[in-house]
Amino acid sequence: MTAKPFLTLGIETSCDETAAAVIAGGTRILSNIVTSQVDLHQRFGGVVPEIAARKHIEAIFPVIDKALKDAGAAAADIDLIAVTHGPGLIGALLVGLQAAKALAFALGKPLIGINHVEGHIYANVLAHPGLEPPFVCLTASGGHTDLLYVPEFGRYELLGRTRDDAAGEAFDKIARVLGLPYPGGPQISRLAETGDREAISFPRGLSGEDTFDFSFSGLKTFALYYINNARQSGEEINLPDFAASFQWAIVDVLATRLIRAAQFKKTRQVVLSGGVSANQSLRREVAALAEPLGISVYFPPLDLCTDNAAMIASAGYFKHQAGCSHSWDLNAVPNLRLI
Ligand code: KG4
Ligand code: ZN
Repeated sequence: MTAKPFLTLGIETSCDETAAAVIAGGTRILSNIVTSQVDLHQRFGGVVPEIAARKHIEAIFPVIDKALKDAGAAAADIDLIAVTHGPGLIGALLVGLQAAKALAFALGKPLIGINHVEGHIYANVLAHPGLEPPFVCLTASGGHTDLLYVPEFGRYELLGRTRDDAAGEAFDKIARVLGLPYPGGPQISRLAETGDREAISFPRGLSGEDTFDFSFSGLKTFALYYINNARQSGEEINLPDFAASFQWAIVDVLATRLIRAAQFKKTRQVVLSGGVSANQSLRREVAALAEPLGISVYFPPLDLCTDNAAMIASAGYFKHQAGCSHSWDLNAVPNLRLI
């Protein structure tokens, strides 16, 4: 008889996705349920924290039930509960955290809190079970843009991070001004497919500086002026060209700095994570820069790039294996730092 696999239930509610997943061991996904509230927030042009929290309350237990059902597992079969406890929206985080605590308490199972950014990195562990540090990792999403050196799992060295907006936030804000629906990243990226990326010369923040940090506020301001000037003079903006040039300004700095960081740390592996790693142009550019240098590039499949609970479960499993767990006083921390 084969031994029952170790099952981890992951729970993620840091923003506008209510997600639960069951994984076996650290990498085998048995179920991965994501319920998005995006339609509700679209008419406000971004996530409304109060609405997000209320919708998580409605969705959390049905989503957990579905994750268990799809995995063919009963609640009592679960060996560990891993939950995002930050960073994110406080009301949203609290819903997932309280559900996780209640389940862990009732079932008598260990509880582990996971940093959402670290969860994104583990999306690559799920997708590429053979991936071993050291590597340099870019985590770029709606809330963060960090360049990290990972010498071993669970240890992080910050090489650079955004000084203002996150990369996804820049996509979302400019898409909103253009009247495109939230979230803006996929919209701009779709428009960019038929545009000329050299059409508009957008600024690259901190270029020429000896830093691995990022800055997207100058790009955002330039884009806003461009749109306002066009509107005031009655000119029509060529949306595909605008989108392609804007996207290229972001992709160019992300890809260049990531590869430069890998060379600096003398590692032959780079990893992309977070919602912006779904961007095909970013994936292509990183691959093109990496290939001649013999650097291997890893990124998750699209459904694991954006927020999900399988990545939280995977991070939880490996941290638990390393001897980590949390007590009932684990709290939600909206600005939780990985480093
Ligand atoms: O990781 P994620 O789902 O949530 C956060 O942790 O923030 O990332 C969401 C962000 C949004 O800003 C969205 O516009 C961006 O990822 N994003 C993209 C693409 N898909 C999602 N940005 C650029 N290109 C994409 N294809
Ligand atoms: Zn995320």
